[in-house]
Amino acid sequence: MPETLATLTNLRNQLLDTVAPSAIRSFDNQISSIPGIIKLTLGEPDFNVPEHVKAAAIKSIEENDSHYAPASGKPELRQAISDYLKDSRGVTYNPADEVLVTVGATESLASITYGLLNPGDKVLVPTPAFSLYFALIKMAGAEPVMIDTSSDGFQLTAKRLENEIEAAGDQVKAVLLNYPNNPTGRTFTKTELEDLAAVLKKHELLVIADEIYSDLTYDQDHYSLATLLPEQTLLVSGLSKSHAMTGYRMGYVAGPAGIMRSVAQIHSYLVVCVNDATQAAAVEALNNGREDPLVFKKAYKKRRDYIIEKMTKMGFQIATPQGAFYVFAKIPDQFGKDDFKFALDVAEQAQVGLIPGSVFGAGSDGYVRLSYAASDDNIKVAMERLATYMEKF
Ligand SMILES: Cc1ncc(COP(=O)(O)O)c(C=O)c1O
Repeated sequence: MPETLATLTNLRNQLLDTVAPSAIRSFDNQISSIPGIIKLTLGEPDFNVPEHVKAAAIKSIEENDSHYAPASGKPELRQAISDYLKDSRGVTYNPADEVLVTVGATESLASITYGLLNPGDKVLVPTPAFSLYFALIKMAGAEPVMIDTSSDGFQLTAKRLENEIEAAGDQVKAVLLNYPNNPTGRTFTKTELEDLAAVLKKHELLVIADEIYSDLTYDQDHYSLATLLPEQTLLVSGLSKSHAMTGYRMGYVAGPAGIMRSVAQIHSYLVVCVNDATQAAAVEALNNGREDPLVFKKAYKKRRDYIIEKMTKMGFQIATPQGAFYVFAKIPDQFGKDDFKFALDVAEQAQVGLIPGSVFGAGSDGYVRLSYAASDDNIKVAMERLATYMEKF
């Protein structure tokens, strides 16, 4: 193993000092070695990639589809994304310069923040929110401004948005909205989005709409800000959740050409392009697998309802998640507000892995997030163990 040359240990982008290591991953690692633990920690579907999608990836490899693709994505994939967005969002994106294929939605978000933000810029982020956002915005030298929505049932209202934009001042460049939300599972109705869109239009702000869970809504159809404000919205999504393709690393962003240009430019410097087999699989998933998420959705809904029933009986308070595959539960008062202590104790004493709420930003302390992208058997045993643990107090 090479020794680090002492004089090189100071080489480090100073912005990294403003960014904590991924708290979700580090907590998950911390509890992983506990013998027999059932982890409901990560947003990792327990389903396999649909067979016809796998076959498309295999065919691509066998046919020596192994060369650099166009940086923005293969034309047939950009066309498939455009067709899917036309049918699902009612917006026509030109595959030539309004659609970009990325390494997961993570790279969409990274290319957006690095490609569009400057030091001093502010981005409003309603919280609880996926913690990656804070890190990416900071690594771009900009500042995430959290809007704590806990007092509004974890829902950003138009009035609140208006107030926060006014309070944050001229440096606000964008608002990052994730619906259905990780970790709360909350999403917006069409009317709520129309109210938000009116405020965003008035202030001419960029909207980064992370809709990666849009195919997993349980009680209502997904509606998109891109439909209402296409000229201001960058729509981010991918196939990690809808088609259980987390390891394929397939995401995309769509938006107006004038904004997409900078996003595509940084993307090409960062990754050149997404691998060919993943792109072939994605074409198949989007053209012929639009029904695939329905199977997952049915299973997730059953699990959601089961968990809510069990955990409510144990004394947790839960605002019913309308989408995604997480339950964000308020820890009963008698356990205190320290969600890290609670989650660690549950992991050690009950062998159940939950994520401490406070990693999701302002308004999240005193909660835990549980992912029900886990097998029915594991969920059942985890609920039994948790119930036994809670009963002891
Ligand atoms: C809200 C949200 N956005 C983006 C991502 C990243 O998705 P991908 O695996 O496509 O990079 C996740 C993954 O958990 C997520 O929850």
